[in-house]
Amino acid sequence: MNVLFLSPSYPREMPHFTRGLAEVGVRVWGVGDQPAHALPEEVRRYLSDYLQVPRLLDEDDLVERTLRWLRGRSVDHVESLWEPLMVAAARIRQQIQLPGMTPEHVTDFRDKQRMKERVASVGIRVPYAFRARSISEIREAVEKIGYPLILKPIAGAGSADTYRINSPQELEQILPRLQHVPELSCEEFIDGREFTFDALCLEGRPLFVSVTEYLPRPLIMRTNEWISPVQITIRDLQQPHLAPGLQMGHEVLEAMQMQTGFVHMEWYLTSKGEAVFGEIACRPGGAYIVDQMNFSNDIDLFREWARVRCHQTFHSPTARPYNVAAIFKRAQGQGHIRSIHGLQHFREQCGRWLCAEHLLPIGALRRDWKQTLLSDGVLIVRHPDWDTTVQMARMAATQIQLFAA
Ligand SMILES: Nc1ncnc2c1ncn2[C@@H]1O[C@H](COP(=O)(O)OP(=O)(O)O)[C@@H](O)[C@H]1O
Ligand SMILES: [Mg+2]
Repeated sequence: MNVLFLSPSYPREMPHFTRGLAEVGVRVWGVGDQPAHALPEEVRRYLSDYLQVPRLLDEDDLVERTLRWLRGRSVDHVESLWEPLMVAAARIRQQIQLPGMTPEHVTDFRDKQRMKERVASVGIRVPYAFRARSISEIREAVEKIGYPLILKPIAGAGSADTYRINSPQELEQILPRLQHVPELSCEEFIDGREFTFDALCLEGRPLFVSVTEYLPRPLIMRTNEWISPVQITIRDLQQPHLAPGLQMGHEVLEAMQMQTGFVHMEWYLTSKGEAVFGEIACRPGGAYIVDQMNFSNDIDLFREWARVRCHQTFHSPTARPYNVAAIFKRAQGQGHIRSIHGLQHFREQCGRWLCAEHLLPIGALRRDWKQTLLSDGVLIVRHPDWDTTVQMARMAATQIQLFAA
């Protein structure tokens, strides 16, 4: 079996999915913008062939070059798990008449207004929202929605260009900053906690389900540099407060007519206990969520995704003995990391439960915390008990400090 995999080495999860494909016994053909010799060894060793394209994000060019390269070859699946290339993968599939989700269908998972309409049409609660392509359309939407409201790109990611607007004054301040965004979603602001619903599906049926809570909500973590964002993958999904979100997750899979692969849905839990739909993507969650799901079960979903995709089977335990917290660190100061405080103490206290530690080393240049949730590094801890997991996460968030200069 031959699988064409777009962007096999970026973002950071992709080398693992490339490995997963090779490990379930298929030939993996990669398409990327790096020269083959510049691919990391952990990717190159799993690729049977590779096409270098000049611009991965030029969708028409990518599709055309890939189709030309595929002529005379027999390929069984065309996949991408990176949001900006999902539609390109679907276009290639459609052109060579492979089964799988069509470009139209994938766009329903990309376009925040289309997904809300589709989900709302079966009675699921979504934020009151409008699409806006101009300042006057934004003003019209604001009239109908009232304050507070959210303005964000229709095809956004990572909370980029997303604003909570509380008043007409704030609206006037923010509008000029949104001029470069071609289409916006204007939404009623939903107050509450924020969770994910992640699932690996086979023909729409979830074989593996996981829920992760963001602490604090993504928009808040993305607008305050001093925060160490935490996300905790939850062990006990029987807790009553999660029931509405889990039920919604299953209903959304049906409403969206999900086929095979990962979904990453986000939902809000209001203080009244109501679940409100946030968004859904037909790819795995980023920022270590797959690693967290793996640590929660001691499994390898990078490989299981490949097995489900290529062989329609899933071979992993799902008992979930652990809660898993990822804590993302941001250094104080600009420039290069000069010192790390509290890490040794944390290792002594929590070492037994520490699954991964990827902080930037001393001397490394800080990452742009606005561009990547990963920021200046991540620690991952797990524990069977929820309160202990939260305590360890809080300790890592507050007591480990990185300083840059
Ligand atoms: N209608 C809304 N009500 C409250 N918060 C919202 C709303 N829409 C977005 N947000 C906040 O902005 C963040 C980013 O929005 P989201 O729709 O998830 O886009 P993306 O993650 O693709 O950037 C959310 O995680 C949430 O914190
Ligand atoms: Mg989101």
